[in-house]
Amino acid sequence: MNDEFQSIEEARDGLGRVGYLADESTALVSFLAARLGKPVLVEGPAGVGKTELAKALSRATERRLIRLQCYEGLDEAKALYEWNYRKQLLRIQSEAADTGWQEVKEDIFGEDFLLSRPLLTAISVEEPAVLLIDEIDKTDQEFEAMLLEVLSDFQISIPELGVVEAHTRPLVLLTSNNSRELTEALKRRCLYLWLDYPTVERELSIVKLHAPDLDEQIARKLVEVIHMIRSLDLKKPPSIAESIDWGRALLLLGADDVDQSVLERTMSIIVKHRTDLDLVAERVGVKLADGLAGRQAG
Ligand SMILES: Nc1ncnc2c1ncn2[C@@H]1O[C@H](COP(=O)(O)OP(=O)(O)OP(=O)(O)O)[C@@H](O)[C@H]1O
Ligand SMILES: [Mg+2]
Repeated sequence: MNDEFQSIEEARDGLGRVGYLADESTALVSFLAARLGKPVLVEGPAGVGKTELAKALSRATERRLIRLQCYEGLDEAKALYEWNYRKQLLRIQSEAADTGWQEVKEDIFGEDFLLSRPLLTAISVEEPAVLLIDEIDKTDQEFEAMLLEVLSDFQISIPELGVVEAHTRPLVLLTSNNSRELTEALKRRCLYLWLDYPTVERELSIVKLHAPDLDEQIARKLVEVIHMIRSLDLKKPPSIAESIDWGRALLLLGADDVDQSVLERTMSIIVKHRTDLDLVAERVGVKLADGLAGRQAG
């Protein structure tokens, strides 16, 4: 296909074909991002498909995915480029003793001695890529400022080499779990997408997509239970990733219903805090024993 979506529908269908079920706003932003040439900031709770959206966009547009995983202390050397010191040293050692310094210097600060990191790679590749800057909230504000420069100019200046300008514009996605507030300057330059937990119907489709052999009734009940659990005041509510895992587990275990005993045996797949486990067992377990089962029968 073309490496850009022509309409919102095409974005939704394209993502759907590669296994990503997008809602209305996700399809809209995916369409606009490439058209407007703007980065997208994707925020939302853990496990709602932020990272997967970038991967799916890369598959759908057949663009290469270049990923920068952020962490505390990430610096320019790991994000932009660094010089290959070892290779430079070897080169210096192998030069004849009478070679002038100027000559050696020109040589060792050439492209052959440069290690390209994700940001430099994303702007210097020939074909437009998808650049995923994952978990930007883990870095500090200085890094964000540096990133702003790259994202607004699409060029990187290397003192020893000169300015590297983008051949093509990558489609840029930044994700954040909101562990710190991002700067207004960054937000201003981005389209914003808030990804939340999906509706029952959409989550059901996602679970069925990832566990196609799971019985329809069980899948529906599983998703309903997940939604019920999310409405409790938990430390860490189950995400889409956990719904999928639970579906696959129930399939493997050959469960023929999602009842109290199944929940109790498999609960640690969906909730992962001691206190959450207790709360779910108490509130949801009891409901499954009578409430939900009664409602389904009636
Ligand atoms: N809309 C969707 N369609 C299909 N699969 C989805 C969708 N949303 C999420 N998933 C699945 O849910 C799982 C979790 O998604 P992902 O890793 O992208 O979450 P995340 O938001 O990046 O989480 P975190 O904040 O923990 O990094 C993946 O296996 C992904 O395939
Ligand atoms: Mg992620």
